[in-house]
Amino acid sequence: MKTNNKKFNIAVVGASGMVGGELLGLLEKRRFPVGEFYPFNSGRSAAKVSFRGKKYPCTAPTLDALKKADIVFFVSNEEVSDKFAPRLAAAGVWCIDDSSQFRLAPGVPLVIPEVNGRELTPAKKLIAGPNCTLTGAAVALALVHEKFRVTELRLATYQAVSGAGKAAMGQLVDELRAYLKTGAPALRPLGKFPRPIAFNVFPQVGGFDAAGDSGEENKVEAELKKIWGDKRIKISSTAVRVPVLRGHSLCAWFKTARPCTPAALKKLFLRTPGLKFFERPGDYPTPLENGDRTDIVYAGRLRRAKTAKNEYQLWIVSDNLYKGAALNSVQIAERIAKL
Ligand SMILES: NC(=O)c1ccc[n+]([C@@H]2O[C@H](COP(=O)([O-])OP(=O)(O)OC[C@H]3O[C@@H](n4cnc5c(N)ncnc54)[C@H](OP(=O)(O)O)[C@@H]3O)[C@@H](O)[C@H]2O)c1
Repeated sequence: MKTNNKKFNIAVVGASGMVGGELLGLLEKRRFPVGEFYPFNSGRSAAKVSFRGKKYPCTAPTLDALKKADIVFFVSNEEVSDKFAPRLAAAGVWCIDDSSQFRLAPGVPLVIPEVNGRELTPAKKLIAGPNCTLTGAAVALALVHEKFRVTELRLATYQAVSGAGKAAMGQLVDELRAYLKTGAPALRPLGKFPRPIAFNVFPQVGGFDAAGDSGEENKVEAELKKIWGDKRIKISSTAVRVPVLRGHSLCAWFKTARPCTPAALKKLFLRTPGLKFFERPGDYPTPLENGDRTDIVYAGRLRRAKTAKNEYQLWIVSDNLYKGAALNSVQIAERIAKL
């Protein structure tokens, strides 16, 4: 990318994690103008990361060490973001946070560049990236909402294990290995998840609130409303974990205020930024084919829903680690670099 030859000192907090690893690869691949590079992890284990052909040891972050950066990517957890990001932002350091800590905080832009990149301004140094599940819907339906106003959105999600981090991915692999050894699926979870994940699906992503909604379902609703800047939409979802390594899929039912047709929707989808739309019913995206190291969101199987007038159905797939996290953060940094 071109940025008037200016280079940015970059810190990555969580560089040894799933999103961190993807982020380093993307900074290289997209030729982000990195000056100095500072990787951090928890400091609990010795980890080295490779960046631009060099190995760097990761250490635990401190405020002083992070202040050396122009841009800090937070890809670790809420507590770490909370501890450092506000103070760094107040000191003039750009902070791009992938945790959920500040997503709903007033005054913190929650940004998907192709949807609401206009919210990035030099005055707001702390920026949040959204939950990886809603990203597909936020991108795919952005123009539909703009033109026909989405009034109701129902989602069933099919979420990959990598959405829960490195250890969760390891759990699926461990359960599959155990099955190959014993010939029987695990009946108890081996670690990160509330249920066995190999040969299974379960409708729980996060903890449950008093109403019975999961943390993920609440995030999808609140964050999508913030990104689209519309509190009126009614959003209801069931978040489901599936034994897919990478790539989240969504089944979306959406109702519009203004009447539209499948043909009008198709036209919009074909010109929606960041979206590849499959027009033929037999062509549809899958996480294996379209959710692994892909830069855009994919959608297909558009049709009228049979349940209500002006209601439509769409199948959406996106890479939770790229567009759902690391890529979105790098795209934010690319916009910042041009401000
Ligand atoms: N996975 C996704 O699809 C996805 C999508 C959107 C957003 N996110 C968000 O991105 C963040 C990272 O997720 P992930 O999936 O990459 O998790 P992960 O694979 O578990 O990696 C977590 C990273 O954070 C580091 N870390 C943990 N405690 C730390 C501390 N006290 N100080 C500094 N670093 C610390 C870990 O270092 P050690 O190796 O030393 O433990 C590791 O590098 C989370 O906030 C998550 O909610 C993830």
